[in-house]
Amino acid sequence: MRRDTDTEIIKPSKESDSAKRREIFEKLLKSNLDFKTSKNNHEPRHSWHAFPAKFPWELPKLFIENLTQANERVLDPMAGSCTTLIEASLLNRDSIGCDIDPLSLLIGKAKFQRFSPISVVDLVHLVLKEAKAKFDFHRDTLVGELKERFDGETLDFLDYWFFEDTQLELLALIQEIEKVGDKAVKQFLMLNFSGIIITKSGGVTRAYDLAHTRPHRVLSKKPNSVFIEFSKRLFKNLQNFKELPPSEVLLEEANAKNLPLDNESVDLIVTSPPYANNAIDYMRAHKFSLVWFGCGISGLKHTRKTYLGSENTQDFHFGDLPDFSNGKVRQLKKINEKKGKALHRYYSEMSEVIKEMYRVLKHGKACVIIVASSVLSDLDVETHLCLADIGRSHGFDVVHIGKRNIDRNKRMLPTSNNKTDSQIESRMHDEYVLGFWKD
Ligand SMILES: C[S@@+](CC[C@H](N)C(=O)[O-])C[C@H]1O[C@@H](n2cnc3c(N)ncnc32)[C@H](O)[C@@H]1O
Repeated sequence: MRRDTDTEIIKPSKESDSAKRREIFEKLLKSNLDFKTSKNNHEPRHSWHAFPAKFPWELPKLFIENLTQANERVLDPMAGSCTTLIEASLLNRDSIGCDIDPLSLLIGKAKFQRFSPISVVDLVHLVLKEAKAKFDFHRDTLVGELKERFDGETLDFLDYWFFEDTQLELLALIQEIEKVGDKAVKQFLMLNFSGIIITKSGGVTRAYDLAHTRPHRVLSKKPNSVFIEFSKRLFKNLQNFKELPPSEVLLEEANAKNLPLDNESVDLIVTSPPYANNAIDYMRAHKFSLVWFGCGISGLKHTRKTYLGSENTQDFHFGDLPDFSNGKVRQLKKINEKKGKALHRYYSEMSEVIKEMYRVLKHGKACVIIVASSVLSDLDVETHLCLADIGRSHGFDVVHIGKRNIDRNKRMLPTSNNKTDSQIESRMHDEYVLGFWKD
């Protein structure tokens, strides 16, 4: 049965009042966390660019607002599209985000740039005019430049997923964006460039479902014009543009297993890791956009192996797990050795991440982890219970595990393409909100 926290929450006035804060934390975890009436216009930045499995902004806001004071530090070590960092900024908290995904960093950095929308409007008209002129009158030059810019493997990838005209339009546009001198505006333009590629069904590629990381080529699809899509998206994103309050934001390329932070330096952590067994394969979709920013396909394949949840276990040094999680891994290995090993890797890596989060969190403070479970080879691997088990083994107290029903579209979860996915699917209607406490 759901319990609502309609009762008024009285915030602790001093940092030392940790008992009170813990009580509030427990109440929040037991409240209704479904957020069915989510208002997307709360902060337009949240919808500037698609991002798979981003959580609703209400989730970090609830914990940030009630468990921290202005200018305290909030961390998301797997920041994704920076939902936590934006909500922290809106509430005048300082924030730190880390991620290893190059597109997450590109999107995140663009969201925190300061610029005047008027200066963007003038510049965009110029960028589009020059790019169109090059596409219309210097097509041969563009064809040559395309071959120079990309290696053979990347060109093959482009030929499979983009029509030739689209490739040339994108090249002409990115070349003009690269010439922009104002770094803030340039990052905003790059975000919008990427946004016309990573979409659910429209966009400029021949793929459907990129936004859900399940690209499949649809021969009948007629991709839209790059210039029209870019201009539409950019002007839409400029609507209702507001500067964020001047809080401190740090977004770094860093592995959550090794955070570039001092011991006991953050006041709250709100994060959601990737799913076990690579159920959402970020790189499968993000490469469509990243190749245009100078990343080659082979380098991206290598980066993909470093994501938490990657199924690659060759040369991986598995860590020790506490009893409950170890039992789950052993159970799965008996049914399916390969999947069992992938789960072992996932829990081993999550153990390192949780240990790191414990290290950087101050005493008397909370850490919130949002996860869904998965069914692998008919076995529910109970990710939430295993992570709670791992959290305890590193010293966290598990205050409560909240449960929320997810709106699949809002959370941007993949729809199933084939039979084997349906097992993962069946578990993805609920997710868990793990409440860890550091005494
Ligand atoms: C579920 S998403 C986070 C979504 C985010 N909460 C949001 O609202 O946009 C998980 C993120 O973890 C990142 N990630 C995967 N492996 C990582 C690692 N080793 N270190 C840091 N981040 C990692 C992925 O790139 C992805 O952005």
